[in-house]
Amino acid sequence: MITGMDIVVAITGASGALYAQRLIQGLVVAGVGVHLVVSPYGRRLLHDELGMETIDLAALAGTDQHSIRLYNYNDVGCELASGSFRHDGMVIVPCSSNTLGEVAHGLGANLIARAAAVALKERRRLVLCHREMPPSPIDLENYVTLTRAGAIVAPANPGFYLNPTTVGEIVDFVAGKLMDLVNVPHHLDTRWDPHNKRPPMSLA
Ligand SMILES: Cc1cc2nc3c(=O)[nH]c(=O)nc-3n(C[C@H](O)[C@H](O)[C@H](O)COP(=O)(O)O)c2cc1C
Repeated sequence: MITGMDIVVAITGASGALYAQRLIQGLVVAGVGVHLVVSPYGRRLLHDELGMETIDLAALAGTDQHSIRLYNYNDVGCELASGSFRHDGMVIVPCSSNTLGEVAHGLGANLIARAAAVALKERRRLVLCHREMPPSPIDLENYVTLTRAGAIVAPANPGFYLNPTTVGEIVDFVAGKLMDLVNVPHHLDTRWDPHNKRPPMSLA
């Protein structure tokens, strides 16, 4: 698949690094140029959940790491911080409550918040894959604010109706949903098919 698209991906300090890894892999397979920003707590997440001492673009991409460009979180003067940089959408995954709040309130002191603010002002697709349980009343107010501003809040909330048997299948469900939301074609197993029922799940 060669889409010729460009997608901004931001990783923040909320649990769920595998969602980001699978999304990036899917984007690279689809021929999408990935513009990556990682917050300081996002880096810690990559360390704690994926064992990365530094940001490992090869591991995040799965295959062609040359499709990924990493940006400095503190550089609010780079291309991504400007509306003149053309792209096809931005996904924040996983998205912490902190970043959710920053974006909902139009802040721009770091490149993730600034790029998201730019996406909103330019009326580009912005997807926030929030991870917190339960969401606080402030998170819920921020959901409404962001939705009214044109963003899509897509909580990390896997369905189980495809009867997954591995963690990878559960992760694929969320990553595939995110790819749908930025209109990137994929072959991840996310589609309900009443004629293709898999065996019931078991905790054993
Ligand atoms: C191991 C770890 C897990 C965390 N998980 C979450 C989480 O799931 N959701 C959340 O909103 N914050 C979580 N936090 C807290 C955020 O990382 C913290 O609020 C931080 O300021 C977020 O900064 P950022 O949005 O710039 O990445 C976690 C922190 C740590 C260290």
